[in-house]
Amino acid sequence: MPKNVLVTGGAGFIGSNFVRYLLAHDQQVKIINLDALTYAGSLANLADLPDPARHTFVKGDICDRALVDGLLREHNIDTIVHFAAESHVDRSILGPGQFVQTNIVGTFTLLDAARQAWLVEKLLPVDQVRFHHVSTDEVFGSLEKDDPAFSETTPYSPRSPYSASKAASDHLARAYYHTYGLPVSITNCSNNYGPYQFPEKLVPLMILNALNGKPLPIYGDGQQVRDWLYVEDHCDAIWQVATRGEVGETYNIGGGNQPPNLEVVDTICDILDELAANSPHKPHRQLKQYVTDRPGHDRRYAMDIRKIESELGWQPRQTLSTGMLKTVQWYLDHADWLAEIRQDSDLTGWMERNYSNRGGEK
Ligand code: NAD
Ligand code: TYD
Repeated sequence: MPKNVLVTGGAGFIGSNFVRYLLAHDQQVKIINLDALTYAGSLANLADLPDPARHTFVKGDICDRALVDGLLREHNIDTIVHFAAESHVDRSILGPGQFVQTNIVGTFTLLDAARQAWLVEKLLPVDQVRFHHVSTDEVFGSLEKDDPAFSETTPYSPRSPYSASKAASDHLARAYYHTYGLPVSITNCSNNYGPYQFPEKLVPLMILNALNGKPLPIYGDGQQVRDWLYVEDHCDAIWQVATRGEVGETYNIGGGNQPPNLEVVDTICDILDELAANSPHKPHRQLKQYVTDRPGHDRRYAMDIRKIESELGWQPRQTLSTGMLKTVQWYLDHADWLAEIRQDSDLTGWMERNYSNRGGEK
């Protein structure tokens, strides 16, 4: 079993949930958390960790080869769980260069450092190491209404700079397995939601705007479909694959919840009506506002998760209603976290850049 795990991007949304999950579920493992603390990463996401003595935070860039080489040796790393990425489609449309750098060059740097340490210098037995690469369903492209869900063998067809850069990183990870025999596994997961998600993504953005009585910007007709998964279920699936999944294999992960965006927003509004009963902005649905669509907006994603279910016995625990209730409650309880994130990350500047030309939220 893994002893020393390098988590990249562990101060971001899913990475910080994963650090918390792993410290709680495994009593032995030590975590080295490498994160550059971009706008999307924050030490506020790592407050109140269970057993923090087993967690070491390192501020740094995954593209820094000397730093990565040093960490693999200093901490005798046997497992890498790689989350670090630029992750927001809208930002990739306005500035694709950083996506190429972090998602492609960064993943290459980590893979090559792992190859050097584990396969060339043989610092650890090869059957005791693993490089787990965390990826997205967006690499498969966009489904029409009645198309079957994406499976592990669906051809890649990425359509945004974000998904194209993630697709490239998946190809590199697979190439390092086939060419060099690096023990790689890959998961492709659908849209996550839950605690500590940066409020540029649909779910936390809608919660935050609704609480402040601001318009809820719905791109296009709001009928785009995502396959929503509660973040802790994703963390569990990643750890199952990293520790029990076949080397060289890919596993699809999804939540089996596939409502159109409009329904997601309505659900959030209805939960807020209940939980924030004294809100002056009730009913929150009145804040919805249709705005200019995202260019190249993927219409529908859906994941076929039969492989991970049958091989590893993993299934999501939360439904959309239980997961969304927990999520909205978490945001209501963490106004201090929201205030800190807002201050650190120039969220206001992003809102201006992304929404001012859509005829919606300023
Ligand atoms: P996020 O944007 O919330 O966090 C990314 C983290 O990576 C941040 O802490 C950031 O500081 C760090 N980072 C960025 N560039 C870095 C660099 N060069 N070096 C070191 N650290 C760097 O992202 P997320 O939503 O938590 O996504 C994590 C991973 O999961 C990504 O690889 C993403 O593609 C994948 N994924 C996300 C979703 C989703 O719904 N959010 C779904 C499927 C897969
Ligand atoms: P997002 O959370 O950005 O995730 P992704 O683009 O990776 O799926 O968006 C989820 C869906 O919500 C997507 O179809 C775009 C839509 N959306 C809006 O309608 N309005 C918004 O303000 C945002 C951020 C997203």
